[in-house]
Amino acid sequence: MSQRTKIKALLESEETHIEVTVKGWIRTFRNNQFIALNDGSTNNNIQVVVDFENTDPNLLKRLTTGAAISVTGELVPSLGKGQKVEIKAKTIEVLGDCDPEKYPLQPKKHRLEFLREIAHLRFRTNTFGAVFRIRNSMAFAIHQFFYERGFVYLHTPIITASDAEGAGETFHVTNFDLANPPKTESGEVDFKQDFFGRATNLTVSGQLEGELGALALSDIYTFGPTFRAENSNTTRHLAEFWMIEPEMAFYDLVDNMNLAEELLKHLIKYVLEKHPDDVEFLSQRLEDEEKQKPQHERSEMSLVEKLKFCLENDFERLTYTEAIEILKESTPNKKKKFQYPIEGWGTDLQSEHERYLVEKHFKKPVILTDYPKQIKAFYMRQNEPDAQGRETVRAMDILFPGIGEIVGGSQREERLDKLEQRMDEMGIPKDELWWYLDTRRFGTCPHAGFGLGFERMIQFVTGMNNIRDVIPFPRFPKNAEF
Ligand code: 4AD
Ligand code: MG
Repeated sequence: MSQRTKIKALLESEETHIEVTVKGWIRTFRNNQFIALNDGSTNNNIQVVVDFENTDPNLLKRLTTGAAISVTGELVPSLGKGQKVEIKAKTIEVLGDCDPEKYPLQPKKHRLEFLREIAHLRFRTNTFGAVFRIRNSMAFAIHQFFYERGFVYLHTPIITASDAEGAGETFHVTNFDLANPPKTESGEVDFKQDFFGRATNLTVSGQLEGELGALALSDIYTFGPTFRAENSNTTRHLAEFWMIEPEMAFYDLVDNMNLAEELLKHLIKYVLEKHPDDVEFLSQRLEDEEKQKPQHERSEMSLVEKLKFCLENDFERLTYTEAIEILKESTPNKKKKFQYPIEGWGTDLQSEHERYLVEKHFKKPVILTDYPKQIKAFYMRQNEPDAQGRETVRAMDILFPGIGEIVGGSQREERLDKLEQRMDEMGIPKDELWWYLDTRRFGTCPHAGFGLGFERMIQFVTGMNNIRDVIPFPRFPKNAEF
């Protein structure tokens, strides 16, 4: 194999009139003369100029969209506009033919829905190339952020016996012959005979195990796949998604919010710095898409403007109770425009309410804190009831424009008696979580953490509307193709 140079490096090269070899896939071949070649290292193609008069016509015929080729030639300054350099081909070898009659990707704009059906090939489009390069960089930036701050990357298990969120949305893991599982005398499935000797499931969150790590290592984070069998067919839910969950000993809710805001800004900044071409391309893509919408539905800012705006402004922080007051008095509520009108205190906010707060009222990211205890998980730290006897917990949700909830977190209940009492109230089995409760028995301390939905963050920075387009192979109800 001869040495090949990636297209990104060639396009940035200061040196010309040198011999180079490139390998990639043909995007287009115009006038039997100009190949636009892409190898995925950048959104930009390199132009290969073919001397068609001196090239075998049989070879020319094989230079079709999608074919994999190797080109050796001279890197020269380009006369055409739009590129600094191009390659004057000396030899072209077809590594893999691509029948243009059968190849599903044509050199034109395809609908995202169609591309989802050919997710095995969609990496070869400009849009998905940009999205997945950004996804990769963002994963790196996350590790960098925590590494630089002395956090320990802790691998929490994927197979567990607990439902951390207590929402009952787990996928079972079993080795049983499903048609004929062993039964107990009373006729129930006998999980004692299963692989792990008990009922197990895929994790919905690494938080509980993360807390164990934090109460020894101080600052940890997990970053892995999580699984939820919630039957939500929305543009923001996946059955398999990746989550970043930091957990910090000796942090209170304010420390927690500060860290989360810093992380989100770090990621936005990183992508803007490292991927100007990809972001610019996606920004333009979004603008074109928005032109299809009626004027009042179009967003006021371009993608790049939105990213910069989030970087430059502090997130608005307020309590759930304050948010309810704003929503109650809001025009859409008074004019009965909300599908779920805000009547009293205590119910969960719907995405229409979150979007009103973020996009209309504050016009920037919002951190809501101190939610009613009834609508949050058992592990959140309980506040003293307020003057009206209303009970809240030290929760925080970060809401982003166009996305809604991007982060969910809280200060944790570190007091054993309070925690046990809440578990009893909510029917969370204390005996099964004995190991979790041990941290409260032995050297408990204030601590806090949060979960950032990786795909929702990628949606935000890429401007992609559907979460199924920011993960290579999306898993959602009735779909596990590829
Ligand atoms: O709010 P959630 O459910 O919080 C937890 O799981 C906590 N244990 C986190 C913690 O404190 N360590 O989920 C956290 C985030 C959400 O804000 C959202 O961004 C994302 O995970 N998320 C999903 N993303 C895609 N598809 C789904 N079905 C998601 N469910 C949650
Ligand atoms: Mg949540």
